[in-house]
Amino acid sequence: MNDRETKTVLVTGGNRGLGHECARQLLADGHRVIITARDRAKGRAALESLSSSSANASARLELFELDLASLASIRAFGAQWEREGRSLDAVVHNAGVMQQSPTRRVTVDGFEETLATNAIGPYLLTKELWPSLVRARAGRVVMVSSRLHLPDSRGEPVRFDFDDPQLERGYSPDRAYKNSKLACLWVTYELARRAEGTSVTANAVCPGFVPVTAAESVKGFSRFMLKYVLRFAPFATALGDAGSSLKWCAVDLSIAESRAKFFAEKREIPSSEESRDPEKARRFCELAAKLCAVDRWPA
Ligand SMILES: NC(=O)c1ccc[n+]([C@@H]2O[C@H](COP(=O)([O-])OP(=O)(O)OC[C@H]3O[C@@H](n4cnc5c(N)ncnc54)[C@H](OP(=O)(O)O)[C@@H]3O)[C@@H](O)[C@H]2O)c1
Repeated sequence: MNDRETKTVLVTGGNRGLGHECARQLLADGHRVIITARDRAKGRAALESLSSSSANASARLELFELDLASLASIRAFGAQWEREGRSLDAVVHNAGVMQQSPTRRVTVDGFEETLATNAIGPYLLTKELWPSLVRARAGRVVMVSSRLHLPDSRGEPVRFDFDDPQLERGYSPDRAYKNSKLACLWVTYELARRAEGTSVTANAVCPGFVPVTAAESVKGFSRFMLKYVLRFAPFATALGDAGSSLKWCAVDLSIAESRAKFFAEKREIPSSEESRDPEKARRFCELAAKLCAVDRWPA
C-alpha cells in the first residue's frame, strides 16, 4: 500500500463549499469520488465543474441525489447503493446546515432540521453504507463536526437536553447547530466503539473557521463580513486548507489505524468532556436508532 493508492470516497454535500473543495482535491490526487447533492441541478453543475478540474476526473466521478433531512431519501439512496454491491473506502459526512432563522423548522419526518441533517441523517446513512465500508479493506467514517461544540465557544453555549433533544422548548439556531455538532461526536465515538474488532474506523474533524463557505448560510451584513472581511482574519482557515483537512481524514495513511479521534489541521485535538461521555454517546445513538426505526448496529 502506498500514499497514491486509489481510494473510493463518498462526500456528502459535494455540490459546494468544503465538500466540493474536498472532492476536487481527492480527484486531483487520482481518487474515485462520489458526491451527493440534494438538488439535482446543483449536483449536475458541480459534476461539470469537478469533471474539468483535473485530468480524467469525469471517469472517476459520480453524482447521487441525497437529502439528509429525509429518511426516505437516505433509504432510497442506500437501496440503490447496496444493489450495486459496491465497496467504499471512506464516507465524509460533510453536508450540514447552520440555520439563521429564530424559527424552529422541522423535516418531512417531523424532526428538528439541524439535528436531523447534521447528525441523525449521517447516522442512518452510515448504517446504509456499512456493508460497503466493511467490504473495503479499511473503511473510514469521517464526521465533520466543529469546535463550536466546545462549551467555551462564542455565542449561546451548547446544551443538549435528552428530555428535549429536538429543542421543542427554547429553540435557537446557534444552540441547534452546536448541539448537532456535539451529537456528531457522540455518533463518531459510539460507532468507533461498536466497530472495534472490525476493519472500519470512525473519526471526526473540525475543518476550521472558513468564512467564505460559512457566508453562504447567512444574509446581509453577516454575509458581507464573512465574505470580504473575516476571510482575511488570522484565525480564518482558507478553503483549500479546510478541504485538505477533510481529504486527509479520508485517505491519509498516517491515520489508518486511528479511531475515535477528533482532528483539526491534520492533528488530534481534544473534544469536549461531554462529547467523551460514553453513556451520552450510547444514549444519543439509541435515540437516533429509534427515530430512524432501525435496530442497534453494528451489533
Ligand atoms: N464553514 C465553516 O466555517 C465550518 C466550520 C466548522 C464546521 N463546518 C461544517 O463543515 C461542513 C461544510 O460546511 P460548509 O461551510 O461547506 O457549508 P455550506 O457551504 O453551507 O455547504 C453545505 C453543504 O451541505 C448541503 N446540505 C445542506 N442541507 C442538506 C440536506 N438536507 N441534504 C443534503 N445536503 C445538504 C448543501 O447543499 P445545498 O447546496 O443544496 O444547500 C451544501 O452542499 C458542514 O457540516 C459545516 O457544519 C463548517
